[in-house]
Amino acid sequence: MNFGIDAVRFYTPGFSLDHSLLAAHRQIDPEKFIVGLGQTQMSILPPDEDIVSMAANAAAPLVKEAKDSIRLFLFATESGVDQSKAAGLWVHHLLGLNPSCRVVELKQACYSATCALHLATSYLHTHPSEKVLLIASDEARYGLNTPGEPTQGCGAVAMVLSASPRLLSIEPHQGVFAEHTMDFFRPNYMREAIVDGKFSTKLYLQTLSHCWQEYVKLSSLQFSDHSRFCYHLPFTKMAEKAHERLCRIAQVPFDPHQIESSLIYSRLTGNVYAAALYVGLSSLLENEEQDLTGKRIGFFSYGSGCVGEFFSGIVQQGYRRALYALDHKELLKSRKSLNYEEYASFFSHRLPEDGSEYTTPVISKGPFRLLGIKNHERLYGP
Ligand code: HMG
Repeated sequence: MNFGIDAVRFYTPGFSLDHSLLAAHRQIDPEKFIVGLGQTQMSILPPDEDIVSMAANAAAPLVKEAKDSIRLFLFATESGVDQSKAAGLWVHHLLGLNPSCRVVELKQACYSATCALHLATSYLHTHPSEKVLLIASDEARYGLNTPGEPTQGCGAVAMVLSASPRLLSIEPHQGVFAEHTMDFFRPNYMREAIVDGKFSTKLYLQTLSHCWQEYVKLSSLQFSDHSRFCYHLPFTKMAEKAHERLCRIAQVPFDPHQIESSLIYSRLTGNVYAAALYVGLSSLLENEEQDLTGKRIGFFSYGSGCVGEFFSGIVQQGYRRALYALDHKELLKSRKSLNYEEYASFFSHRLPEDGSEYTTPVISKGPFRLLGIKNHERLYGP
């Protein structure tokens, strides 16, 4: 029996900033962002949204079909809203999930959703009649006028995992590499990540080669056994560099066609941390003209700090019928383009941190939004 991704849907808030506008404001050549980083827009989190509302907005249509059979819900994030309570419990409530569905939150920078994916498929081996809900939801924040600023973004991906999945069956071999590094981290008292950007891109590429070598050894698969590749997407140029590196290791010519469909959505959302690899998967399945049925996709997941993993999956027959392509394209197209002042004001908005009561301004169309804070408790609703 196969186990893997039965459905995938993403959500990103209804506001974006054009990189050409940001470049003009920072007096930088726009080509640096558009060509040098491969980004044209980034999604901006409004004051009445956070990882919980984005997660609920991503998952709502998916769980309608699967509510009764979901008994495990894994929430992957590095933008946690509480030190104790899993963000997924708010989502469990908002979506009316089954009381017998367990909920837990996982963290390791942008890698955690990949670990969750493998935990879920292992779980399904012993519970094949059940489904697992996996949501990755994050806001990438580096700060105004920092080198990381043009690589910010936000969004959530929700996936239903099952036996006999409609989209992608996950294969058993993974090449993994972990090492204690300080390329990117965010102490509890900070809202923005501390990042050594150049060092982080080097580590990303080194980790890719370690993971690939172990994956090839364990799986006995070669580069040519893979039809397309999805990479973790801090910015789309990083995936191009990664694919060039892999082609060099495998001694094959670089073919941009093997990655380009996976980059389309990310170029418009920016980095969505734990969700980024799976936004790439959505983008690939929904934008690739060639029928990918039966094709093997290679995935490289990277989370700073750092853990990396190379794994693979096989695209399932009839996969196009299970996609949310129209929803995603409409969502991206209908975002309001912010001017610089609006962006800076959204970015600088702070929720009270002293427990005082607060009602957020109504900005998002939802369906779910952060309503405010009362008695230290975050309140959500439509
Ligand atoms: P920077 O210093 O602003 O940019 O930082 P740069 O000077 O390196 O330029 C970027 C590229 O633009 C270069 O291309 C330039 O040549 C080019 P490259 O040489 O690298 O191929 N360029 C131009 N191209 C065309 N026309 C021009 C022009 N000018 C320059 N006029 C950096 C870039 C990515 C370091 C910065 O944005 C940053 O710190 N970002 C955040 C960290 C990051 O994204 N790291 C990626 C790897 S780590 C990771 O993926 C994990 C992560 O997602 C977090 C997690 O795991 O949780 C971040």
